[in-house]
Amino acid sequence: MRPIHITDTTLRDAHQSLWATRMQMADMLPILPKMDSVGYWSLEVWGGATFDAALRFLDENPWDRLRIIKRHTPKTPLQMLLRGQNLVGYRHYSDDIVRRFVHASKRNGIDVFRVFDALNDRRNLEVSAEAIKECGGHFEGAISYTVSPVHTLDSYLEFAQELKDMGADTICVKDMAGMLTPFRTEKLVRSLKSEIGLPVHVHCHYIGGMAPMNYLKAAEAGADIIDTAVVALAFGNSQPAVEMIVAALKESPYDSGLDIDLLFEIAEYWEAVRERKKLKRGVTSLMHMEVFSHQVPGGMLSNLASQLELQKATDRMPDVLKEIPRVRAEVGYPPLVTPMSQIVGTQSVINVLTGKRWAVIPQEMKDYIKGSYGKAPGPMDERIVAKVLGSESPLSPDVRPGALVTTTYEQMAEEIGDLAHSEEDVLMYALFPNEARAYLQTHQEGAEKAVFMMGEEVNTVMEETDSMDMNQIHELIKLVETSDVSEVVIEEGDSRVVVRRGGAAAAPAPVAPVAAPAAAASPMPVSPESPQDVDAGAGAARPTSWKAVVAPMVGTFYRAGAPGADPFVKVGDVVEEGQPLCILEAMKLMNEITAEENGIIREVAVENAKPVEYGTVLFYYEPGV
Ligand code: CO
Repeated sequence: MRPIHITDTTLRDAHQSLWATRMQMADMLPILPKMDSVGYWSLEVWGGATFDAALRFLDENPWDRLRIIKRHTPKTPLQMLLRGQNLVGYRHYSDDIVRRFVHASKRNGIDVFRVFDALNDRRNLEVSAEAIKECGGHFEGAISYTVSPVHTLDSYLEFAQELKDMGADTICVKDMAGMLTPFRTEKLVRSLKSEIGLPVHVHCHYIGGMAPMNYLKAAEAGADIIDTAVVALAFGNSQPAVEMIVAALKESPYDSGLDIDLLFEIAEYWEAVRERKKLKRGVTSLMHMEVFSHQVPGGMLSNLASQLELQKATDRMPDVLKEIPRVRAEVGYPPLVTPMSQIVGTQSVINVLTGKRWAVIPQEMKDYIKGSYGKAPGPMDERIVAKVLGSESPLSPDVRPGALVTTTYEQMAEEIGDLAHSEEDVLMYALFPNEARAYLQTHQEGAEKAVFMMGEEVNTVMEETDSMDMNQIHELIKLVETSDVSEVVIEEGDSRVVVRRGGAAAAPAPVAPVAAPAAAASPMPVSPESPQDVDAGAGAARPTSWKAVVAPMVGTFYRAGAPGADPFVKVGDVVEEGQPLCILEAMKLMNEITAEENGIIREVAVENAKPVEYGTVLFYYEPGV
């Protein structure tokens, strides 16, 4: 007998993949004890996009969430997804912030740290790996799996050996895009088992439907642990359903031994939540199935869809899907996982929308090409590198990218000041400054400790205490939902629960791409400018020799590269081809618009920080000089 162990991803990956990470604490609470009694190897409950989404969209403190889950699941190890030096954010953080974050996660309830780097660059995992070992956590080193000419079996084995050298307790094969096939799985798992010798954990997304076959082959090849989700949140972009996998492996040497009836009890609970909240179940569309051709992960597809919607160009999706593999090849085949999926995806959208490949390049893509994210898996197109770097030289391979980040924990602590009451508060601020500040301001001492939104109509505010009776709370919610009562308050001992019918503010946040690259942080403040410089309303006929620079995308127009900086150009400036003219913030990235030819700026047609449509004239210039 080689029973297979199972990790349940319902509370992290499954709702990140299907519900845009909008599962709330109150959805989880009533079922946690039952999930704890199943006998899972681990419950993946935290990290990935959940930290960001809880703060940004759900008005929940992610640390509270972790502590509450831990209290209700004492028997099962809790697991999180950590993006190496990016932690649960979208850019590198300094080493001391990485260390403190790992220690704080352990202290608040995480046992298993699954750590990955989008580029499989060991240097981006070193510091978190060390910190995990320091605090006695389980270090699961993950291989970001993809298919490309430079990703060979040997390259994966080499990386797995590096993970082992860093102290990995288990190796995870992380197939975020659904690119694994049964026979690729078998070969990879068998080699990992024989060459590396560590337990192997296989993480598949269902997407095109290969995952259950992969798991069967993985089990046969000696895999130790596989990832599944409850059926209500399985399939499609999520993991395969646990009920199916448990049933499939019965009467085999790999029988998980889990109680299928208990699993169905849990499934019924989640199905009811899903129906009450009118949330989607996982389905595989043709476009998802085509991952076997375009290799674009499901989560990325939904991000692309919302980007294109914003740009009023949903009909360009097929072109974008053709463009993505091209861009990916040109920049050395990065695996399409956060943040590379956003960077490659956005570049592809821009290439398609502007109709000119590589004419506009977001800062994140420039940073990647420079090497700031780590080493690209394969060689890049030299013409693009030359265009992006100009006379600058790429980052030396001896420099660990994370070591370049200089913002320290102490600086962050000073910045947030008295609003932070704990190391956890400061860390939250260090990772997501705007969201954390807003959260800490509205939840100062004396305010409610946690806010839970229930359903679409009802808003529950409660103070988390040990004596809280979730059944009673759910009864209350039902009462408020089905009556004209707008608010019910119950006070019992030291616990106070308010169930309130939500107004507009309490409605769930609109589903928007959760994963956003670094530049998403904040729109730039308006920088000073001389009003006579801007002549937006001028209707007078302009000389025929003037030409227009138009917005290649929908976005926000900025005249300067940074808050408070001087504008790139003023009326009368002589500009050379390739010189930056302005920034267009679009798709959460800062995109530099450059001059297409030499000329003189004759008019700045839009005010700073104003939204512009596709085709809006930004500048008039006179070519030549
Ligand atoms: Co995943």
